[in-house]
Amino acid sequence: MSLKDKLRLFVRHNRVILFGRLMFEALCETCSHTKHLGAADMLSDEVKFAADLRIRTHAIEKGMSIGSARVGFGQPKVLALIDDLFLFIRKFPTASIDEAVCVIERYIAYNAGRGCDMPEVKARYEQLLKAYKLRTPLNVGIRELKYSETAEAAQASFDVFSHSRYSIRDFGTDTVVDFKDIIGAIDMARKAPSACNRQPARAHIFKGEAAHKLLDFQGGCKGFANDMQYALLVTADMRQYFINERHQMYVDGGLFAMELLFSLHYKGLATIPLTTSYKSMKTRRMRKEFDIPSYEVPIMIIGVGAFKDEYKVAVSHRNPVEDYYCEHH
Ligand SMILES: Cc1cc2nc3c(=O)[nH]c(=O)nc-3n(C[C@H](O)[C@H](O)[C@H](O)COP(=O)(O)O)c2cc1C
Repeated sequence: MSLKDKLRLFVRHNRVILFGRLMFEALCETCSHTKHLGAADMLSDEVKFAADLRIRTHAIEKGMSIGSARVGFGQPKVLALIDDLFLFIRKFPTASIDEAVCVIERYIAYNAGRGCDMPEVKARYEQLLKAYKLRTPLNVGIRELKYSETAEAAQASFDVFSHSRYSIRDFGTDTVVDFKDIIGAIDMARKAPSACNRQPARAHIFKGEAAHKLLDFQGGCKGFANDMQYALLVTADMRQYFINERHQMYVDGGLFAMELLFSLHYKGLATIPLTTSYKSMKTRRMRKEFDIPSYEVPIMIIGVGAFKDEYKVAVSHRNPVEDYYCEHH
């Protein structure tokens, strides 16, 4: 081997040099994040501000879709959201807040239907309607579904199949999920593509009490965590990637997770993807408490349970198709 090749190998694989190169990459990423992440100057950027409002709007919609939703839940949050919607339309008068307005309307109707009138929210909502003219009424809030129809759709052509999957927060507790179906779904999801076929994904299967402990740690499924029977923590092995591919494991792991969600749906199981996007210290704690190797990055948790015969879901309105593409000529 020539001296030049030896030197190249040394530079490529030496840990100290790698640390320096990664620091440079991290610095470049930090500059981009500092400028573009939602947290940076949120109130003066329409897209960032709208994202914050959408997250909070969706939290209300999600709340209504929980099986045991508390009547009258979340009033302070809804009032705070309405205040910020006022601020948003004052700053960005041409922007649409149709989705938020329709979700709040459904929230008021949902609670009124359960005997909770919420006069303060109603009055503030009516003021909002005076300040903002609704453009397109949207079918948002919750949707009531029948499992018999879902089961049929889950075996139909892909367009019907994929549209019949929803995130479930209203699980059935009478039927026991068969472990064989979990393994069968993982077996199917192995077909997910990965860069250079590296197949870095792994599902850590937590059952019963262990699942509830993980779901409690996750924190985004309060009110329905105990109705799930399994929690699958999907991770990806970062040892298979190199310096230019620092984020590739999230792509490959994410593709596997999506394929697993579809496979579980195909098997007739109710699922919900749950975030594992934490700051570093919480990720470290998760690895320690749940025995996850330090070289695996968490992708997401998939909560798994049984369907009820009749269940409700959050609609989670999708943007029009034109918002999903742009043409380059
Ligand atoms: C990566 C990821 C993380 C999510 N985390 C949560 C969560 O912590 N809690 C929750 O209730 N829903 C969570 N969801 C579910 C989303 O709210 C849901 O996918 C979205 O509203 C679209 O609805 P659908 O899955 O019913 O089509 C998550 C979804 C994804 C993809």
